[in-house]
Amino acid sequence: MDNGGAFTDRLFAQAHIPRGATALDVGCGSGVVTFRLSQAVGDDGDVVGIDLNAKALDLARQTADELGLTNTRFVDRDLMDLAQEGTRFDVITCRRVLMYLPDQAAAAKAFHTLLKPDGVLILQEHDATLQHSTSARPLADQARDWIWKTVQAEGANPGTGFHLHHLLTEAGFDDIRLLAEAIVETPDQPAPTADIVRAMLPRIEAAGIATAKEIDIDTLDARLAAERAVARSTSVSEMMFGALARRT
Ligand SMILES: C[S@@+](CC[C@H](N)C(=O)[O-])C[C@H]1O[C@@H](n2cnc3c(N)ncnc32)[C@H](O)[C@@H]1O
Repeated sequence: MDNGGAFTDRLFAQAHIPRGATALDVGCGSGVVTFRLSQAVGDDGDVVGIDLNAKALDLARQTADELGLTNTRFVDRDLMDLAQEGTRFDVITCRRVLMYLPDQAAAAKAFHTLLKPDGVLILQEHDATLQHSTSARPLADQARDWIWKTVQAEGANPGTGFHLHHLLTEAGFDDIRLLAEAIVETPDQPAPTADIVRAMLPRIEAAGIATAKEIDIDTLDARLAAERAVARSTSVSEMMFGALARRT
């Protein structure tokens, strides 16, 4: 599952990433965004994915080997440390990382430092501060709470998307374009809530937000579908924000 992947593809299309570019994916995890960059810059380009999670980096390296990528490597490095090292990139991507960083203003400045003049930054952050439903959906609300309370307990800021423009302006970017898309649910258009809860189950339990018994993951998807059918609602559960910013 690549939650928000179609939105990432649209951001990439609008960023016009040049073939042969040098590119950095910050907080690459298992490389889902990095591999898009590898494809966008082509064989003449050079892509680096950085993260602090050794397991995720190993998985990313394994996938890169399987894909036979020669233009991509994965390095254990902190964003703030890399910004001190003097390397500069044509393109930087960073998806769902900023919300976890304790000093977002410093991170935005690090992006600016790490870009070459005319380089482009592509950010994607989800934001849970805007929600609406035309009728009550208590189970959907509870599932969303499990997800976002866990993320908050891990230190993340669920309101990052609405602050991207301010953060980037303060960091010195002056060519900034923001895009946003809502995650919409109707009776016949489900959001991948149960899949996300399943993937996060160990984290939800570790954060003490809910137990596996309370969540009952094997029936959650069916119970959400039944609730959607009865509620006949149209709901917005969160927003995906994208920012394209150029260093002039
Ligand atoms: C929610 S994951 C997102 C992974 C990937 N960008 C994606 O969209 O699938 C956040 C990642 O950021 C990494 N991360 C957090 N702080 C970091 C930092 N200061 N420098 C580099 N990576 C960091 C974490 O280890 C984690 O793998």
